[in-house]
Amino acid sequence: MCGIVGGVAERNISNILIEGLKRLEYRGYDSAGLALINQGQVLRERRVGKVANLEQAVLASQVSGSLGIAHTRWATHGKPTEENAHPHISGNVAVVHNGIIENYQELKDDLEALGYVFTSQTDTEVVAHLINDALKTTPSLLEATRQVVPQLKGAYALGIVHTDHPDELITVREGSPLVIGVGIGENFISSDQLALLPITNRFIYLEEGDIARLTRNSIEVFIDGQLIDRPVKELDATVSNASKGEYKHYMLKEIYEQPEAIKQTISQALNGNALREDFLASAIQDFANIQQVQIIACGTSYHAGMIAKYWFEQLIDLPCQVEIASEFRYRSPVIVNNTLYVCISQSGETADTLAALRDTQKRAAAKSLNITTMTICNVATSSMVRETNHSLLTLAGPEIGVASTKAFTTQLAALMLLVLKIGQIKQTISDTQIAEIVAELWHTPKVILDTLQNDKEILRLSELFVEKQHCLFLGRGTHFPIALEGALKLKEISYIHAEGYAAGELKHGPLALVDNDMPVVILAPQDDMLDKLKSNMEEVQARGGELFVFADENSGIKAKDRQHVVYVPSVNAILAPIVYSVPVQLLSYHVAVLRGTDVDQPRNLAKSVTVE
Ligand code: M6R
Repeated sequence: MCGIVGGVAERNISNILIEGLKRLEYRGYDSAGLALINQGQVLRERRVGKVANLEQAVLASQVSGSLGIAHTRWATHGKPTEENAHPHISGNVAVVHNGIIENYQELKDDLEALGYVFTSQTDTEVVAHLINDALKTTPSLLEATRQVVPQLKGAYALGIVHTDHPDELITVREGSPLVIGVGIGENFISSDQLALLPITNRFIYLEEGDIARLTRNSIEVFIDGQLIDRPVKELDATVSNASKGEYKHYMLKEIYEQPEAIKQTISQALNGNALREDFLASAIQDFANIQQVQIIACGTSYHAGMIAKYWFEQLIDLPCQVEIASEFRYRSPVIVNNTLYVCISQSGETADTLAALRDTQKRAAAKSLNITTMTICNVATSSMVRETNHSLLTLAGPEIGVASTKAFTTQLAALMLLVLKIGQIKQTISDTQIAEIVAELWHTPKVILDTLQNDKEILRLSELFVEKQHCLFLGRGTHFPIALEGALKLKEISYIHAEGYAAGELKHGPLALVDNDMPVVILAPQDDMLDKLKSNMEEVQARGGELFVFADENSGIKAKDRQHVVYVPSVNAILAPIVYSVPVQLLSYHVAVLRGTDVDQPRNLAKSVTVE
């Protein structure tokens, strides 16, 4: 999605803005631009395509300035063209914007009636004209912004500068993330703290409705016109763990980081083979009261939730529903007393999940229902973490590749910890069972390491996918969601059409698709469903389908004509989905690289989906 970087300093910040935009590239975008205020002028450069194009333009034109805003745009209103790229200018005002102004058309009609001429098809341009117009009644940029904000409907974050205010950057957060990076004699804004990590590790996280005024030496945050104290938080994320290192792509690096990421995630909750007493201690009373769980998530995080449903019901006898947030938020679901609502999200900012959470909270409050909310998230400072009663962090480190990998497997590890904790509180699982699962959980990083040894073999098999147009992924039980996840990974980064199915559904429709040209990926761990899965494999082979099987080393499944087998080290059946995620990630990665796609920033996609 779109990204914002801005700053006010004493030095020229054009490089800082460009570097910041580069660090936001992973979020997905199609054009980029910046505006710098210099000697009473707005100097603007915008380019379609990569930030590198903008960088070239800035180098060529030598634009510089110590106050500026910059943006990567992911087109919503109007095509990805230079005219539609941000910043947008009206008079002496320049504006960058993330999110959507829903009532832009009526505002545009009014502004056109006043004589304002639009040069883009964006919703953003109305903001620039509105502020310009408001400045007719006040000389204060802050006051003009305050007058405009109530007129805007939708979710947005803004960065605003003006030629007559060379030491002033105004920013607004209303439904779209925004942080202030606190420097010494200089201050910055961004939609993602990662952009500012090379400059500062001190951040102020704006809340919904905040309007802030930054100068070189001051930061004032207002809510409802009142000055408010927002704490400065120090972040210990380092610049280096957001870089690719020796890896060709972030995605590959992140796949290989999984053993360590899982270890980090589980370490926070475990003491030997037991759950730590202080793990989620503040939630004990709430967990004791819950009678069911409702998981809300999108994409890969939704698949993690699907697996957790098996765990909640099989291991601790607690009913669990899982739903895609974009459906949940609009279908007026019944909010049930004593339910634990769990948002799963890598970013903690996904618009649909956040909206579903807020709507649930509002509706529960309106009916005085007793619900508990919780977030499983990779970003400690995210909106979801801040807005739920409890949170459990996945300690995966920054995930830059658009395709979620280590965030997914750490979500699974965290979900298992949550299941065990709730089961312990409700006494629906014994301490011995907990100890057995925890021992296996500790062992998982090693099994993943061993599974990664198959990388070369998977690369070899991936060559057989390069020319394919379609692919099926099949699994049963907790590996049905892994089949969905494998299909999502493949389509998302290699652009091969792929579908995931519960293998038992094959003969209810998808079997019709199977022919000589259809690769079928099978997830075959050593579990109770293995024999049934083997029958499904026969069904595919009988129709000429080519099987690519990720199978437990003791499964007895052997390679034969049109049946390729990659053996996965034996792993406890309950935790197997964590391990079987890895070969499907590697397969998708290698197919995508061979097909020459932009692996870390696949077309049309964004890392953090902060608009609907
Ligand atoms: O940040 P979130 O986990 O809420 O994001 C949800 C999805 O957008 C995300 O998982 C998406 O499906 C991934 N790109 C898939 O790899």
